[in-house]
Amino acid sequence: MATVTPLTEDDRAAWRTLWDGYLTFYATTLDEATTAATFARLVDPASGMHGALARDDTGAAVGLVHWLTHPATWSTASYCYLEDLFVAADGRGAGAGRALVEHVRDWAERHGSAKVYWLTAESNATARALYDRVATRSGMIHYQIPLG
Ligand SMILES: CC(C)(COP(=O)(O)OP(=O)(O)OC[C@H]1O[C@@H](n2cnc3c(N)ncnc32)[C@H](O)[C@@H]1OP(=O)(O)O)[C@@H](O)C(=O)NCCC(=O)NCCS
Repeated sequence: MATVTPLTEDDRAAWRTLWDGYLTFYATTLDEATTAATFARLVDPASGMHGALARDDTGAAVGLVHWLTHPATWSTASYCYLEDLFVAADGRGAGAGRALVEHVRDWAERHGSAKVYWLTAESNATARALYDRVATRSGMIHYQIPLG
C-alpha cells in the first residue's frame, strides 16, 4: 500500500534517484543547473511548483509526481497541470502511480482548481492503462513550437 508525502528538502537524494530514472525513461539528459533549479523550486512554497513522493511499506521513496496550477480563460478557477509522474521499475504494479495521481487530484480539489490534466505519449501503453482507469481522455492533440 503506497503512501504519498509532500516533497521536502530532506528528500533531495531520494528524489534525485527517481528524477534520474525518469529522465532515463525518456532517454534524455538535463544539465545539473536545470535539475538543481527544478528541485529548489519544487521545495519552495512560493515557486508555484509542487512535488510529492510515493513510499512503500518500508518508507522508501518509489515514485514522484510534480504539478503546477495556472489561470484559465474558460474558468475563474485555476487548472492544474500534472507535469511529471514516475515510479521506479521495482516499485511498479503496487498502486504507487495511482496514489500519486490521486494525491494531485485531491490537492487540486482542495486548492480550488477546476480540473487536473496531463499529457502522455500515445505509445505509452503502461501509463495509459493507469490513466484510462483514473481519468477521461480529452481527445485533444498536443502541438508545440520549441523556442530558443
Ligand atoms: C505509469 C506508471 C507511473 C504506473 O505506475 P504504477 O505504480 O506501476 O501504477 P499502479 O500500480 O498504481 O497501477 C495503476 C493501474 O494501472 C494498471 N497498470 C499499471 N501498469 C500496468 C501495466 N504494465 N499493464 C497493465 N495495467 C497496468 C494497474 O493494473 C492499475 O489498475 P488497478 O489499480 O485498477 O489495478 C509507471 O509504470 C511508470 O513510472 N512508468 C514509466 C514512466 C512513465 O511512463 N510515466 C508517465 C509519463 S506520462
